[in-house]
Amino acid sequence: MIKTMSVYAALVIMMAFAGGASAETTIAGGMTAEGGDAKAGKEKAEACFGCHGEDGVSIDPETFPHLAGQFAGYTFKQVLDYQLGNREDDTMGAMAGMVETREDLSDISAYFASLKPVKGEPSGSKAAKAGADIYQNGNKKLGNYAACVRCHGEKGRGQGNNALFPIISGQSKAYTIKQMQDFKAGTRANDPASMMAMVAKGMTDKEIEAIADYLSGL
Ligand code: HEC
Ligand code: HEC
Repeated sequence: MIKTMSVYAALVIMMAFAGGASAETTIAGGMTAEGGDAKAGKEKAEACFGCHGEDGVSIDPETFPHLAGQFAGYTFKQVLDYQLGNREDDTMGAMAGMVETREDLSDISAYFASLKPVKGEPSGSKAAKAGADIYQNGNKKLGNYAACVRCHGEKGRGQGNNALFPIISGQSKAYTIKQMQDFKAGTRANDPASMMAMVAKGMTDKEIEAIADYLSGL
Protein backbone atom coordinates (compact mmCIF):
# COMPACT_ATOMS: atom_id res chain seq x y z
CA MET A 1 0.00 0.00 0.00
CA ILE A 2 2.72 2.44 1.00
CA LYS A 3 4.48 1.95 -2.32
CA THR A 4 1.44 2.77 -4.39
CA MET A 5 0.77 5.90 -2.36
CA SER A 6 3.52 8.01 -3.87
CA VAL A 7 2.25 7.60 -7.40
CA TYR A 8 -1.29 8.03 -6.20
CA ALA A 9 -0.40 11.26 -4.43
CA ALA A 10 1.14 12.61 -7.63
CA LEU A 11 -2.05 11.75 -9.46
CA VAL A 12 -4.21 13.59 -6.96
CA ILE A 13 -2.00 16.66 -7.30
CA MET A 14 -2.26 16.47 -11.08
CA MET A 15 -6.00 16.20 -10.89
CA ALA A 16 -6.15 19.26 -8.68
CA PHE A 17 -4.29 21.28 -11.28
CA ALA A 18 -6.35 19.87 -14.11
CA GLY A 19 -9.50 21.19 -12.52
CA GLY A 20 -11.39 17.97 -11.96
CA ALA A 21 -10.91 16.17 -15.26
CA SER A 22 -11.11 12.41 -14.80
CA ALA A 23 -7.93 10.65 -13.71
CA GLU A 24 -7.72 8.64 -16.89
CA THR A 25 -7.91 11.50 -19.33
CA THR A 26 -5.59 13.67 -17.25
CA ILE A 27 -2.78 11.17 -17.23
CA ALA A 28 -3.20 9.69 -20.67
CA GLY A 29 -3.75 13.02 -22.36
CA GLY A 30 -0.98 14.81 -20.54
CA MET A 31 1.82 12.29 -20.83
CA THR A 32 4.11 12.07 -23.81
CA ALA A 33 7.23 10.03 -24.47
CA GLU A 34 9.31 13.12 -23.68
CA GLY A 35 8.15 12.95 -20.07
CA GLY A 36 10.58 10.21 -19.02
CA ASP A 37 14.21 9.19 -19.43
CA ALA A 38 14.38 6.03 -21.55
CA LYS A 39 17.98 5.27 -20.61
CA ALA A 40 17.31 5.40 -16.89
CA GLY A 41 14.11 3.48 -17.60
CA LYS A 42 15.95 0.48 -19.00
CA GLU A 43 17.54 -0.24 -15.63
CA LYS A 44 14.34 0.42 -13.74
CA ALA A 45 12.39 -1.89 -16.06
CA GLU A 46 14.49 -4.96 -15.28
CA ALA A 47 11.70 -6.49 -13.18
CA CYS A 48 9.45 -6.37 -16.25
CA PHE A 49 11.72 -8.26 -18.64
CA GLY A 50 10.90 -11.73 -17.29
CA CYS A 51 7.48 -11.51 -18.97
CA HIS A 52 7.49 -8.56 -21.39
CA GLY A 53 11.04 -9.14 -22.69
CA GLU A 54 14.10 -6.90 -22.52
CA ASP A 55 13.31 -5.52 -25.95
CA GLY A 56 9.62 -5.17 -25.06
CA VAL A 57 8.82 -8.28 -27.10
CA SER A 58 6.87 -10.67 -24.91
CA ILE A 59 8.32 -14.05 -24.01
CA ASP A 60 4.80 -15.52 -24.18
CA PRO A 61 2.59 -13.25 -26.32
CA GLU A 62 -0.58 -15.25 -25.64
CA THR A 63 -0.39 -14.26 -21.98
CA PHE A 64 1.83 -11.18 -21.75
CA PRO A 65 1.38 -8.25 -24.15
CA HIS A 66 4.25 -6.76 -26.12
CA LEU A 67 5.14 -3.31 -24.77
CA ALA A 68 7.66 -2.28 -27.45
CA GLY A 69 6.75 0.97 -29.17
CA GLN A 70 3.60 1.64 -27.16
CA PHE A 71 2.98 5.30 -26.30
CA ALA A 72 4.65 6.14 -22.99
CA GLY A 73 1.52 7.85 -21.74
CA TYR A 74 -0.52 4.71 -22.35
CA THR A 75 1.90 2.38 -20.56
CA PHE A 76 2.05 4.89 -17.72
CA LYS A 77 -1.73 4.96 -17.39
CA GLN A 78 -2.12 1.18 -17.48
CA VAL A 79 0.43 0.56 -14.72
CA LEU A 80 -1.21 3.24 -12.63
CA ASP A 81 -4.61 1.65 -13.28
CA TYR A 82 -3.30 -1.73 -12.05
CA GLN A 83 -1.94 0.00 -8.94
CA LEU A 84 -5.25 1.69 -8.22
CA GLY A 85 -7.31 -1.41 -8.98
CA ASN A 86 -8.98 0.23 -11.99
CA ARG A 87 -7.68 -2.66 -14.09
CA GLU A 88 -7.42 -6.03 -12.41
CA ASP A 89 -4.98 -8.86 -12.93
CA ASP A 90 -3.34 -10.75 -10.06
CA THR A 91 0.07 -11.08 -11.71
CA MET A 92 0.30 -7.63 -13.20
CA GLY A 93 -1.28 -6.00 -10.16
CA ALA A 94 1.55 -7.34 -8.02
CA MET A 95 4.15 -6.18 -10.53
CA ALA A 96 2.65 -2.71 -10.80
CA GLY A 97 2.84 -2.39 -7.02
CA MET A 98 6.62 -2.67 -7.25
CA VAL A 99 6.94 0.60 -9.19
CA GLU A 100 7.48 3.12 -6.46
CA THR A 101 7.52 6.61 -7.86
CA ARG A 102 5.98 8.61 -10.63
CA GLU A 103 9.45 9.31 -12.02
CA ASP A 104 10.29 5.60 -12.16
CA LEU A 105 7.06 4.90 -13.99
CA SER A 106 7.69 7.73 -16.48
CA ASP A 107 11.19 6.43 -17.18
CA ILE A 108 10.06 2.81 -17.58
CA SER A 109 7.26 3.91 -19.92
CA ALA A 110 9.68 6.02 -21.96
CA TYR A 111 12.01 3.03 -22.27
CA PHE A 112 9.34 0.74 -23.71
CA ALA A 113 8.13 3.53 -26.00
CA SER A 114 11.64 3.86 -27.44
CA LEU A 115 11.72 0.24 -28.66
CA LYS A 116 10.85 -1.10 -32.08
CA PRO A 117 7.22 -2.24 -32.24
CA VAL A 118 6.39 -5.84 -33.09
CA LYS A 119 5.18 -6.53 -36.59
CA GLY A 120 2.65 -9.36 -36.87
CA GLU A 121 2.37 -12.17 -39.40
CA PRO A 122 -0.87 -11.98 -41.42
CA SER A 123 -2.76 -15.28 -41.13
CA GLY A 124 -4.44 -14.81 -44.50
CA SER A 125 -7.56 -16.47 -43.07
CA LYS A 126 -11.15 -15.68 -43.98
CA ALA A 127 -11.70 -14.43 -40.45
CA ALA A 128 -8.85 -11.96 -40.80
CA LYS A 129 -10.50 -10.58 -43.94
CA ALA A 130 -13.75 -10.12 -42.07
CA GLY A 131 -11.76 -8.47 -39.28
CA ALA A 132 -10.23 -6.00 -41.71
CA ASP A 133 -13.71 -4.97 -42.79
CA ILE A 134 -14.88 -4.46 -39.18
CA TYR A 135 -11.70 -2.48 -38.48
CA GLN A 136 -12.41 -0.01 -41.29
CA ASN A 137 -16.22 0.04 -41.33
CA GLY A 138 -17.57 -1.19 -38.01
CA ASN A 139 -20.30 -3.82 -37.99
CA LYS A 140 -24.04 -3.80 -38.57
CA LYS A 141 -24.88 -3.17 -34.94
CA LEU A 142 -22.29 -0.50 -34.16
CA GLY A 143 -22.31 1.19 -37.53
CA ASN A 144 -19.49 3.09 -39.09
CA TYR A 145 -19.08 5.62 -36.26
CA ALA A 146 -17.55 2.96 -34.00
CA ALA A 147 -15.12 1.52 -36.53
CA CYS A 148 -11.79 0.85 -34.85
CA VAL A 149 -9.92 3.02 -37.38
CA ARG A 150 -11.66 6.13 -36.06
CA CYS A 151 -9.87 5.88 -32.73
CA HIS A 152 -6.92 3.53 -33.29
CA GLY A 153 -5.78 4.98 -36.61
CA GLU A 154 -4.52 3.35 -39.77
CA LYS A 155 -3.28 -0.22 -39.26
CA GLY A 156 -3.81 -0.04 -35.49
CA ARG A 157 -0.89 2.35 -35.07
CA GLY A 158 -2.79 5.01 -33.14
CA GLN A 159 -3.26 8.68 -33.87
CA GLY A 160 0.05 10.50 -34.10
CA ASN A 161 1.30 10.85 -30.55
CA ASN A 162 -2.06 10.73 -28.80
CA ALA A 163 -1.54 8.38 -25.84
CA LEU A 164 -5.26 8.18 -25.17
CA PHE A 165 -5.65 5.72 -28.06
CA PRO A 166 -3.21 2.81 -27.80
CA ILE A 167 -1.36 1.08 -30.59
CA ILE A 168 -3.20 -2.24 -30.95
CA SER A 169 -1.34 -3.88 -33.84
CA GLY A 170 0.92 -6.91 -33.47
CA GLN A 171 -0.44 -8.38 -30.22
CA SER A 172 -1.31 -12.09 -30.25
CA LYS A 173 -4.82 -13.11 -31.17
CA ALA A 174 -5.35 -14.61 -27.70
CA TYR A 175 -4.33 -11.41 -25.89
CA THR A 176 -6.60 -9.20 -27.99
CA ILE A 177 -9.52 -11.60 -27.56
CA LYS A 178 -9.02 -11.51 -23.79
CA GLN A 179 -9.04 -7.70 -23.69
CA MET A 180 -12.12 -7.43 -25.92
CA GLN A 181 -13.98 -10.04 -23.86
CA ASP A 182 -12.94 -8.28 -20.64
CA PHE A 183 -14.32 -4.98 -21.96
CA LYS A 184 -17.47 -6.77 -23.13
CA ALA A 185 -18.05 -8.45 -19.76
CA GLY A 186 -17.12 -5.30 -17.83
CA THR A 187 -14.27 -7.07 -15.98
CA ARG A 188 -12.00 -4.47 -17.58
CA ALA A 189 -13.54 -1.02 -17.21
CA ASN A 190 -10.64 1.43 -17.16
CA ASP A 191 -11.45 2.87 -20.58
CA PRO A 192 -12.14 6.61 -20.51
CA ALA A 193 -15.82 7.42 -21.11
CA SER A 194 -16.51 3.67 -21.58
CA MET A 195 -15.34 4.04 -25.16
CA MET A 196 -14.25 0.41 -25.45
CA ALA A 197 -17.18 -1.03 -23.51
CA MET A 198 -19.58 0.50 -26.02
CA VAL A 199 -17.65 -1.04 -28.88
CA ALA A 200 -17.08 -4.49 -27.36
CA LYS A 201 -20.66 -4.90 -26.15
CA GLY A 202 -21.83 -4.39 -29.72
CA MET A 203 -19.73 -7.25 -31.05
CA THR A 204 -20.37 -11.00 -31.28
CA ASP A 205 -17.73 -13.49 -30.14
CA LYS A 206 -17.14 -14.37 -33.77
CA GLU A 207 -16.52 -10.73 -34.68
CA ILE A 208 -14.11 -10.39 -31.77
CA GLU A 209 -12.17 -13.42 -32.99
CA ALA A 210 -12.08 -11.99 -36.50
CA ILE A 211 -10.80 -8.58 -35.41
CA ALA A 212 -8.17 -10.20 -33.17
CA ASP A 213 -7.00 -12.37 -36.07
CA TYR A 214 -6.70 -9.30 -38.31
CA LEU A 215 -4.85 -7.19 -35.70
CA SER A 216 -2.36 -9.97 -34.94
CA GLY A 217 -1.22 -9.73 -38.56
CA LEU A 218 -0.51 -5.99 -38.58
C1 HEC B 1 5.14 -12.21 -14.11
C2 HEC B 1 4.79 -11.63 -15.38
C3 HEC B 1 4.78 -10.11 -15.52
C4 HEC B 1 5.77 -9.23 -15.16
C5 HEC B 1 7.10 -9.52 -14.52
C6 HEC B 1 5.27 -7.92 -15.56
N1 HEC B 1 4.05 -8.02 -16.18
FE1 HEC B 1 3.04 -6.54 -17.11
N2 HEC B 1 1.54 -7.85 -17.61
C7 HEC B 1 1.50 -9.17 -17.25
C8 HEC B 1 0.21 -9.73 -17.65
C9 HEC B 1 -0.28 -11.14 -17.41
C10 HEC B 1 -0.49 -8.70 -18.31
C11 HEC B 1 -1.90 -8.76 -18.94
C12 HEC B 1 -2.92 -8.66 -17.85
C13 HEC B 1 -4.31 -8.34 -18.35
O1 HEC B 1 -4.87 -9.09 -19.14
O2 HEC B 1 -4.82 -7.28 -17.94
C14 HEC B 1 0.38 -7.52 -18.27
C15 HEC B 1 0.04 -6.30 -18.82
C16 HEC B 1 0.83 -5.17 -18.75
C17 HEC B 1 0.49 -3.90 -19.34
C18 HEC B 1 -0.74 -3.59 -20.15
C19 HEC B 1 -0.37 -3.46 -21.61
C20 HEC B 1 -1.50 -3.16 -22.52
O3 HEC B 1 -1.28 -3.21 -23.74
O4 HEC B 1 -2.59 -2.88 -22.06
C21 HEC B 1 1.50 -3.03 -19.03
C22 HEC B 1 1.62 -1.58 -19.43
C23 HEC B 1 2.47 -3.77 -18.26
N3 HEC B 1 2.04 -5.07 -18.11
C24 HEC B 1 3.64 -3.21 -17.74
C25 HEC B 1 4.54 -3.90 -16.94
C26 HEC B 1 5.67 -3.27 -16.30
C27 HEC B 1 6.04 -1.80 -16.43
C28 HEC B 1 6.33 -4.25 -15.62
C29 HEC B 1 7.55 -4.12 -14.72
C30 HEC B 1 7.44 -3.19 -13.62
C31 HEC B 1 5.59 -5.49 -15.83
N4 HEC B 1 4.51 -5.23 -16.63
C32 HEC B 1 5.95 -6.74 -15.33
C33 HEC B 1 2.50 -9.87 -16.62
C34 HEC B 1 3.68 -9.35 -16.15
C1 HEC C 1 -14.41 5.76 -29.63
C2 HEC C 1 -13.02 5.38 -29.66
C3 HEC C 1 -12.65 3.91 -29.80
C4 HEC C 1 -13.11 3.02 -30.74
C5 HEC C 1 -14.13 3.25 -31.85
C6 HEC C 1 -12.38 1.79 -30.51
N1 HEC C 1 -11.52 1.95 -29.45
FE1 HEC C 1 -10.29 0.50 -28.68
N2 HEC C 1 -9.71 1.79 -27.20
C7 HEC C 1 -10.11 3.10 -27.07
C8 HEC C 1 -9.48 3.68 -25.90
C9 HEC C 1 -9.67 5.09 -25.40
C10 HEC C 1 -8.69 2.66 -25.33
C11 HEC C 1 -7.79 2.77 -24.08
C12 HEC C 1 -8.48 2.25 -22.85
C13 HEC C 1 -7.64 2.48 -21.60
O1 HEC C 1 -7.17 3.61 -21.38
O2 HEC C 1 -7.42 1.53 -20.84
C14 HEC C 1 -8.83 1.49 -26.17
C15 HEC C 1 -8.22 0.26 -25.92
C16 HEC C 1 -8.32 -0.84 -26.76
C17 HEC C 1 -7.65 -2.11 -26.53
C18 HEC C 1 -6.77 -2.47 -25.35
C19 HEC C 1 -5.32 -2.37 -25.69
C20 HEC C 1 -4.45 -2.84 -24.54
O3 HEC C 1 -3.66 -3.75 -24.75
O4 HEC C 1 -4.58 -2.31 -23.45
C21 HEC C 1 -7.97 -2.93 -27.58
C22 HEC C 1 -7.52 -4.36 -27.81
C23 HEC C 1 -8.85 -2.17 -28.44
N3 HEC C 1 -9.04 -0.91 -27.92
C24 HEC C 1 -9.40 -2.67 -29.61
C25 HEC C 1 -10.35 -2.01 -30.38
C26 HEC C 1 -11.03 -2.61 -31.51
C27 HEC C 1 -10.74 -4.00 -32.05
C28 HEC C 1 -11.93 -1.68 -31.96
C29 HEC C 1 -12.93 -1.83 -33.09
C30 HEC C 1 -13.79 -3.01 -33.05
C31 HEC C 1 -11.81 -0.51 -31.11
N4 HEC C 1 -10.84 -0.75 -30.16
C32 HEC C 1 -12.55 0.64 -31.26
C33 HEC C 1 -10.98 3.77 -27.91
C34 HEC C 1 -11.67 3.22 -28.98
